[in-house]
Amino acid sequence: MNLEKLLHDRLAPALEAAAGTPVDPAVRVSPHADFQSGAPLALARTLGRPPREIAAEVAGRVQLGGLAEITVSGPGFLNLTVSDDLIAVSLDALGGDDRLGIPPVARPERIVVDYSGPNVAKEMHVGHLRSTVIGDALARTLEWQGHEVLRVNHLGDWGTPFGMLIEQLIAEGAGAEHSLGDLTAFYRRARAAFDADEEFRTRARLRVVALQAGDAATQALWRRLVQRSEQAFLAVYDRLGVTLGPADFAGESSYADDLPGVVADLDAQGLLVESDGALCAFPAGFTGRDGSPIPLIVRKGDGGFGYAATDLAALRHRVRDLRATELLYVVGAPQRIHFRMVFAVARAAGWLPETVRAEHIGFGSVLGADGRMLKSRSGETIRLADLLDEAVSRASAPEIGLAAIKYADLSGDRRGDYVFDVDRMLAATGNTGPYLQYAYARIRSLRARAATAPGPIRIVHPAERALGLALLGLGPAVRGAAASREPHRIASYLHELAATFSAFYERCPVLRAADDETRASRLSLADRTARTLHLGMCLLGIPTPDEI
Ligand code: ARG
Repeated sequence: MNLEKLLHDRLAPALEAAAGTPVDPAVRVSPHADFQSGAPLALARTLGRPPREIAAEVAGRVQLGGLAEITVSGPGFLNLTVSDDLIAVSLDALGGDDRLGIPPVARPERIVVDYSGPNVAKEMHVGHLRSTVIGDALARTLEWQGHEVLRVNHLGDWGTPFGMLIEQLIAEGAGAEHSLGDLTAFYRRARAAFDADEEFRTRARLRVVALQAGDAATQALWRRLVQRSEQAFLAVYDRLGVTLGPADFAGESSYADDLPGVVADLDAQGLLVESDGALCAFPAGFTGRDGSPIPLIVRKGDGGFGYAATDLAALRHRVRDLRATELLYVVGAPQRIHFRMVFAVARAAGWLPETVRAEHIGFGSVLGADGRMLKSRSGETIRLADLLDEAVSRASAPEIGLAAIKYADLSGDRRGDYVFDVDRMLAATGNTGPYLQYAYARIRSLRARAATAPGPIRIVHPAERALGLALLGLGPAVRGAAASREPHRIASYLHELAATFSAFYERCPVLRAADDETRASRLSLADRTARTLHLGMCLLGIPTPDEI
């Protein structure tokens, strides 16, 4: 049962009677009582009455039927303390419910979640880790809420670098499969050849033209590069337990045929301006430091199309063909202006109606111990696979190490930077993945060791009460996390819940409870806790081994 909703429904008629018009009771969890409503304070201005007087009137009128106690506090808050029985009954009702009392959303959206988006022939780096892990947690959470989620992996598989890469593949003997074993090294060799050799550069440029013109031999080589990269990415997803599969790749190349149409449509609507030979859009409100408008380059001076044109085509496709009602882009903070401009141009072009939300879900950087962008000693970007190997080799089991990395990424506000510190991530105490995994396994083991079965919940001890209330907080935590696209709210909730359980366990013996009824009740509390942790961790993509 949703306690906020229950109290909301009881308070609403009393508030309406006092105000003469419907009022949102805005019931929130509060440190001063179980729940609190500040509605009388908001009403005071419109009614021209002292807030405490309104609060007293509402407290007098409200019919709580013994579910909760109400008091007026401070300048005019309504404090609500729910009854122990209500907590017990609400928890008992979760007994057989897979969804732990949280119904699916009433109006499901069709949500495209664009995440991961690594680039072909480049090894995924730690920046892609954040997009992958945060995007996956959001996709899982929204899907669980009942939305229809379309995962899209906007693979960087098109554009000028492919001329250079294909020429390098030819130079190394196109049959040589081993060339692509280490994609980063291959990319570097291609880059070195490109920088060193004028003729190579010319061939690379012609090769791009051949690729885009659909030359069969060139396309076959390109496809090999793409496939080899896709395999490598899928292996990482598999290792990380990320729900992106082969069917979710929708690379930049898949929009190539739409690009001339995108330009023609924008041009026909008078949205493009020629600037130094390039075709640019200048959406309103985007100016550089000197106050001059910033262009979104839709077609480059050489006639080629860039990242922005592809994102415009992809957006149009997602709204028009996939019929998405929300578009989420989980991409690092530096691309914020890019997405704001793409959305603005798409709105102006009529491709993004007001009914469709588009959001850039930005995130901060991963830093090294020195507080700077994570780099290896020789100054190169660190490969994601190496970071994963490090965490796994130091953890007691691969499942623990990988979960620790994911959890560390998810447990802080995504907008912030964080330091990649394997020791801290693997710590068995604190807000870490291993802490939650151990807590879960320990609670599960209670059930296995108990000689008797769980039974009806009775709330007697304050620590039982605190645990019960914490358990009933899952719904608000998930809703809050989904609405603000902030997985860390689920993480904080789970960490708090596990800590509340420990406090309970210290004060309230479970297996050695004084009598059978108490033991049965506490086993049920433990069961609800384990299931709540399990569900929350699933939403974050953190595995819950029964034994560690
Ligand atoms: N490949 C891009 C990068 O590595 C990320 C793609 C993000 N998605 C998008 N629709 N632009 O920066």
